[in-house]
Amino acid sequence: MGLGVNIVNISKKYGSTVAVDNVSLNVAAGELLGIIGPDGAGKSTLLRMIATLVLPDSGEIKVGDYDGIADYHSIRRILGYMPGRFSLYQDLTVEENLDFFASVFGTTVTANYHYIKDIYCALEPFKRRRAGKLSGGMKQKLALCCSLIHHPEVLLLDEPTTGVDPVSRYEFWEILKRLSGAGMTIIVSTPYMDEAYKCHRIAMMLNGRIVKSGTPDEIIQEFDKRLWKVTGGDVYDLLLVLRSCPEVELCNSFGNSLHVVADTTKEKLCSFLAGNGYEDVLVEPLSPTVEDCFIEYVVGKDGK
Ligand SMILES: Nc1ncnc2c1ncn2[C@@H]1O[C@H](COP(=O)(O)OP(=O)(O)OP(=O)(O)O)[C@@H](O)[C@H]1O
Ligand SMILES: [Mg+2]
Repeated sequence: MGLGVNIVNISKKYGSTVAVDNVSLNVAAGELLGIIGPDGAGKSTLLRMIATLVLPDSGEIKVGDYDGIADYHSIRRILGYMPGRFSLYQDLTVEENLDFFASVFGTTVTANYHYIKDIYCALEPFKRRRAGKLSGGMKQKLALCCSLIHHPEVLLLDEPTTGVDPVSRYEFWEILKRLSGAGMTIIVSTPYMDEAYKCHRIAMMLNGRIVKSGTPDEIIQEFDKRLWKVTGGDVYDLLLVLRSCPEVELCNSFGNSLHVVADTTKEKLCSFLAGNGYEDVLVEPLSPTVEDCFIEYVVGKDGK
């Protein structure tokens, strides 16, 4: 099971807005790829094009050997797509939604129940509840069941855990890891950095382009700037002071501390801070996280 997805130079414009700009991406069979990017980066448009729901202006998409345009009918049979906004029928019950999605694919819940039973067991006690009355996490699990009921080989998930509580988020990712471990190819967009670490590979998107991709380790290793952690003092005041320092390229708050990208030495940073009335703050070198890389590559100069 599992088919690769091969995307070559696809673009999509809406009027004068370039939603996806010349994106190429290879996703191996059984790979779990995460797409991270800010609002409007083009994540949903990219997923919709792979799902054959939006036609690219140019470029080519292949799912296995199927062509995204000529073979869209075959692709829809082997692909599961969970859209960003709640896609289920709110007035139908849990089991009615599932029956409906199974019938769309010409199958039945009974025939394919074994594919979803691990996930569905949490929903079983609520099977007569209307989907609109489920909790956030339950809704997403039901949406996942509905996108899996025809046993797809490729699964596309658009921000499946946005607004979902942390426990449900954790459970949801355990399920994704299991599906991917069983050979399913999964492409998932997410705004959560901790989820990026759970992916085999990450693609960071900005303004319709993929600005960085690689395994979480590769992305971290390729970060070649000097990074500092600054603690002590009022975080917001310190942020403004550090952003006024000519050597500081980026400065952002992480809880009670500040992460500072600056090609300088600890002594110089300390002396700049002391000159601005901050003598007692702690400056330490820091190893980057995926989130630091995301800020560097995606948030970029807006972060200064
Ligand atoms: N159907 C549409 N009609 C017009 N413009 C669109 C349409 N769909 C997307 N866009 C525009 O294309 C750009 C990319 O949108 P897209 O929804 O793909 O981004 P996104 O990364 O999914 O953002 P978000 O995090 O907000 O979901 C945005 O500027 C958006 O306004
Ligand atoms: Mg989106």
